Amino acid sequence: MGRSIHLRLLVGSVLGLMISSGPSRGEDKEAEAAERGRIALTSTGYLKPAWKAETYAKVGRLWGSTSPDPAREPEAYAAAFNRRYGLHAAPYPNDGLPMGLRKGNLPDGSKGDLAMDCMICHGGSIGGRSYVGLGNTQLDMTLLFNEMMKAEGRRLPPSTFVINSSRGTVNAGMFSVVLLSLRNPDLTFRTFPLPLGASLPELDVPAWWLLGKKATMYYDGRTDARSARTNMQFMLGEKTLSDFKALEPTFRDIQSYFKSMKAPKYPFAIDQPRADRGKALFVKNCVKCHGTYGPDAEYPNLIVDLKTIGTDPARALGISPRFVAHYNSTWFGEDYPVDEEMTGYQAPPLDGIWATAPYLHNGSVPTLAALLNSSTRPSRFYRPPSTDFANYDELNVGWKFETEGDESPSSTRAEKSRFLYDTSRSGLGNGGHIFGDRLSEPERSDLIEYLKTL
Ligand code: HEC
Ligand code: HEC
Repeated sequence: MGRSIHLRLLVGSVLGLMISSGPSRGEDKEAEAAERGRIALTSTGYLKPAWKAETYAKVGRLWGSTSPDPAREPEAYAAAFNRRYGLHAAPYPNDGLPMGLRKGNLPDGSKGDLAMDCMICHGGSIGGRSYVGLGNTQLDMTLLFNEMMKAEGRRLPPSTFVINSSRGTVNAGMFSVVLLSLRNPDLTFRTFPLPLGASLPELDVPAWWLLGKKATMYYDGRTDARSARTNMQFMLGEKTLSDFKALEPTFRDIQSYFKSMKAPKYPFAIDQPRADRGKALFVKNCVKCHGTYGPDAEYPNLIVDLKTIGTDPARALGISPRFVAHYNSTWFGEDYPVDEEMTGYQAPPLDGIWATAPYLHNGSVPTLAALLNSSTRPSRFYRPPSTDFANYDELNVGWKFETEGDESPSSTRAEKSRFLYDTSRSGLGNGGHIFGDRLSEPERSDLIEYLKTL
């Protein structure tokens, strides 16, 4: 793998030299880096394969008699596979596999078994279109892991944390905590984990296109957004310090790719006079935290304390001082250490907010209307069965949802229960952010009309 990356980088920089042989401007350089990053991210695997190649076709036997034949109906099989595990068709060449899985690049350069990549969580779709960088709000990582292992006659080793209790959330933070606890400060492997005391909840996945504006990243805003090393934590299960160092330039290009991303435009009609009225309300009530939009956009990058924001505190409080100290003592925290003091949530830019429901860091609120009127937020609701526009709510902006009272037969009920989002679970609370409550109903709907334009 190392060789193919180096080759690609070499080709990339030779091309870069050819393109920028004139007086080169910083912007061109940045665009070239972003393009190298795009290629590096979408065409290369950075993790060892997790499953055998043939497991993809074998796992359908666990779904019951209705599964399409993978040999005779590969497209129908792919669609069924994606629906079952909450994955989305790849908008780049990927051997017929969805975003997030790839035929892992083997050390000899050949392609073989199935490996995972960033897009398993960071590849989403809406209205039948896939986007690299849209958070995956459908993923059932627990079900995917369990069934792929079962199809290979293996069992998933017991996990010390819940990966996801509901579809579309994922406990990415705990993967990092567990993996980093098995490393010494010099990143050599440990046999016994360090007691780091961190306990993080499952989360919604943030859109990558927001990084162009952010000075700090992650929901708690404690990490400098210039850190490329922090994005390499997912390789902590297998890579050595020298592997990490060799891959850092590639991950810097990937960072440039994130910064170059733009949010997709709202695809339906917008009532402009109402959106204009909504903009005035936004300026009065929201700009101080979320910034302004359009040509002279300004983003304040505020981290709001827990008392003011009032949303579920588990994510902000779950990072322990011992974890931060350990992270900062390693190569990961050497250039951009994690802030030791801050506790709160970053008010995110709202670009493309129409496409990123459900809302808040834990995905606990299905629509903008419910976000802006806290008394209407459902305490238990079903996530949509897909991200097709049939499930999209243009009026309330976000996902249509059902609440209690599912009358379906028990077999489908078990499957459907994976879509249930229960805000009484730890970390999944839907309180706080009550800044829309004081507005009248017509004001809220004008404001929502404006939010569609961002
Ligand atoms: C298991 C799911 C998962 C995988 C795999 C994953 N991420 Fe993430 N990613 C998340 C979640 C969830 C967050 C939010 C974490 C938080 O703030 O606590 C996140 C946050 C981020 C952010 C910060 C975004 C922001 O605006 O704050 C970046 C950048 C990022 N991931 C890059 C990557 C890259 C690059 C990879 C692959 C090497 C990757 N992620 C793999 C789930 C995942
Ligand atoms: C005091 C600062 C503050 C004000 C005022 C404020 N917000 Fe927020 N907003 C935040 C923070 C912080 C978050 C993230 C909270 C979390 O995820 O737990 C957030 C989250 C959001 C989200 C969800 C983002 C996502 O990707 O899930 C939307 C939408 C939003 N705010 C819209 C508004 C609107 C509209 C207004 C004006 C009525 C407003 N906010 C006023 C701080 C603020």
